[in-house]
Amino acid sequence: MRGAKLQTAANLERLGTESAFEVLARAEALKAEGHDVINLGIGQPDFSTPEHIVEAAVKALRDGHHGYTPAPGILALREAVAADIARLRGVEVDPNNIVCVPGGKVTMFFAIMMFGEAGAEIMYPNPGFPIYESAINYSGAKAVPIPLLEEKDFSFDAEEVLSLITPATRLMIINTPANPTGGAVPREEMDKLAAGLEAHPHVAILSDEIYGQMTYDGHEHVSLLSYEHLRDRLILLDGWSKTYAMTGWRLGYSVWPKDVVGHAEKLCVNVHSCVNASAQFAGIAALEGPQDEPAAMVKAFDERRRVIVSELNQIAGISCIEPGGAFYAFPNITGTGMTSDTLQKKLLEEAGVAVISGTSFGSYGEGYLRFSYANSTENIRLALSRIRDCLA
Ligand SMILES: Cc1ncc(COP(=O)(O)O)c(C=O)c1O
Repeated sequence: MRGAKLQTAANLERLGTESAFEVLARAEALKAEGHDVINLGIGQPDFSTPEHIVEAAVKALRDGHHGYTPAPGILALREAVAADIARLRGVEVDPNNIVCVPGGKVTMFFAIMMFGEAGAEIMYPNPGFPIYESAINYSGAKAVPIPLLEEKDFSFDAEEVLSLITPATRLMIINTPANPTGGAVPREEMDKLAAGLEAHPHVAILSDEIYGQMTYDGHEHVSLLSYEHLRDRLILLDGWSKTYAMTGWRLGYSVWPKDVVGHAEKLCVNVHSCVNASAQFAGIAALEGPQDEPAAMVKAFDERRRVIVSELNQIAGISCIEPGGAFYAFPNITGTGMTSDTLQKKLLEEAGVAVISGTSFGSYGEGYLRFSYANSTENIRLALSRIRDCLA
């Protein structure tokens, strides 16, 4: 019968989205109309994947790796991940606890689906990567925000975080260095959080460390995996997207506690079977090959970070603290008298600069905009001068 209304599941009403993709679409539409748009909205490196990684994927295809692989990834990839974790974090991980997935987002979704249901509570950073809150709401669990405030350098006070735990808390999500703020949680606060969690053994932790290799100005990345007493309830989210400029390859990895790694593998079998086989070979080449290109990217981001922070602070009504990691600046725009959404639209339509409203990252993001500085210094300077003119 024509015109019949399709009955979809009620939980779809609770599913959110990531507005960076909407802003990207609008920016592309404006470009297609002939407008000159500088995109400081999308969160991906502006570099290409290093050549030897691309070659490894091409070779894998030529060598005939065209079929399914084991659901969590080929053993050689999981061994390469374990060796990388040992190199970067000084922690021994069993490759059997590692699950390779199509991007960091998949680990997030699986972890939230594994612990979330009606009656459960999941704590998440706010402002934070929007998919945390979206997936928690979709699961039916109650989303409990961990406020990340500018006055704390967008880090948190461990005591305050611990005070949000209730008997219904199943999962706590921590992301450092953070999207959208660039905040990096200092060791002292991480130590306090890890120690305090001993009193709450019912809480699992999802540690999103996708920007773990991008820290600046002496900020160190403190991995929650390095706290041995948390290991039997810690899920590590990491991957290749940001470190190796591989967002389009869809490749990520996760480490799961022994008790739940089987659930993660079963979710893989149900959802995607395995990661694209040739991408897995690219992943090995990335981890085992030379690390000079990722290091050069971080150096470039650091230089651009200084430029963008200094330029933002010269615009009336805007102030920006130094981000300690990732490739985002999160300036306070309350002095402009505009809401974040209004200013986001104005800058795109009138200045031709795409940035993301802080409210896209949660309620605590009002009064801020996210700028990605994964763009050339020249474009950053041009974008900021257009913004200055637009607000003059
Ligand atoms: C904090 C955070 N976690 C995870 C992801 C997802 O990364 P991927 O592209 O590998 O799915 C992103 C991407 O922007 C992110 O910012």
